[in-house]
Amino acid sequence: MARVADFIYRAIYRGLLSRLPEPAAVALGQAGLRWLPLDRLPVFRSPDPRLAVTLGGVRLPNPLILSSMYYDLVILQRAMGLGFGAVTTKSITLGPRPGHPRPNLVRIETSAGPGLINCNGFQNPGLGAYRAALPSLPHRVPLIVSVAGESVDEYATLVGELGAFGDLVEVNISSPNTALVYQWSQKPGELGGLFKAVRGATTKPLIVKLSPDFSEANEDAIIPAALEHGIRIVNYGNTRRVTEPRLSQGAGGLSGPEIFPETLVNARRIRRRFGEGLELIATGGIDAPEKALSVLEAGADACSYFTGFITRGPLLARRILDRLSSELDHRGLARLGELRAGPGA
Ligand SMILES: Cc1cc2nc3c(=O)[nH]c(=O)nc-3n(C[C@H](O)[C@H](O)[C@H](O)COP(=O)(O)O)c2cc1C
Repeated sequence: MARVADFIYRAIYRGLLSRLPEPAAVALGQAGLRWLPLDRLPVFRSPDPRLAVTLGGVRLPNPLILSSMYYDLVILQRAMGLGFGAVTTKSITLGPRPGHPRPNLVRIETSAGPGLINCNGFQNPGLGAYRAALPSLPHRVPLIVSVAGESVDEYATLVGELGAFGDLVEVNISSPNTALVYQWSQKPGELGGLFKAVRGATTKPLIVKLSPDFSEANEDAIIPAALEHGIRIVNYGNTRRVTEPRLSQGAGGLSGPEIFPETLVNARRIRRRFGEGLELIATGGIDAPEKALSVLEAGADACSYFTGFITRGPLLARRILDRLSSELDHRGLARLGELRAGPGA
């Protein structure tokens, strides 16, 4: 059944979605997600209790997280039944944003496989409308609420107001498409104040989402500042900034398998450097079961993806979960955390 459904999605992606102009493909894909009750089908979910992990003390039924991109509550609700252990909202900003003008998303075919470049610019309904809507979203799996601000006060307000509706809160300081958000990584000295303010604004576990474009600042200044202020979960990380003349902003964030090698190296390096002092989510280019397995072996507690959800389809989560279960069987391990000692570490 899973194989047949997987085959059908790939055929639809290759034959239709990947040929349509990007805006039409996005509209069709999101309409499909909204209207097809895929989340009612058990085929997407794994029953294996050994895959459960915790992040900030919150139990996730498995380590796969849908990365930040959707704010539509129907889509988020569906995604919660598609095998993920947690689901992340789009980064919400203080005011509503229409996003950057089109073209703001293009496909790219790389030697590693299909990817995306976006300059979405945080298209979202804004704090007021989202705060009013979020309580209606049932949490079939934990919800990670993502926020992005342009000042310390904005972040603190967003975390304070939205924290109550998430199981965890992700502080996005890394999206490359909005100068004021991306610039946080270039002034790591000021991040201490930001981290202190958001830590004081909620009791929920906080995640800081980093950019792969600033590895030195991340490791020498930003992660130490986060840890100092009680933020213990690092999501490493966001898209990589690249020039792209097809986009309205002339540049955007690259996602998909091209950035995976760096994601793996980063996971391994962060775990070696910071030991067990932090919890790590690895994000960037995970679009196959072996890639998820290798970042978990390398030191990640959980891993997230978005582009793979589009290019490989909703059954990717189940394929990854089955691969993780078979690896635990093969090695005779009782729980996922024990994978860390594996050959990729
Ligand atoms: C169209 C699009 C919109 C995105 N919006 C956000 C966002 O609002 N906040 C955020 O932290 N990351 C955002 N991302 C980044 C993803 O969450 C993820 O970190 C990145 O795409 C790398 O993972 P992937 O290679 O699995 O896609 C967006 C990515 C795409 C493609």
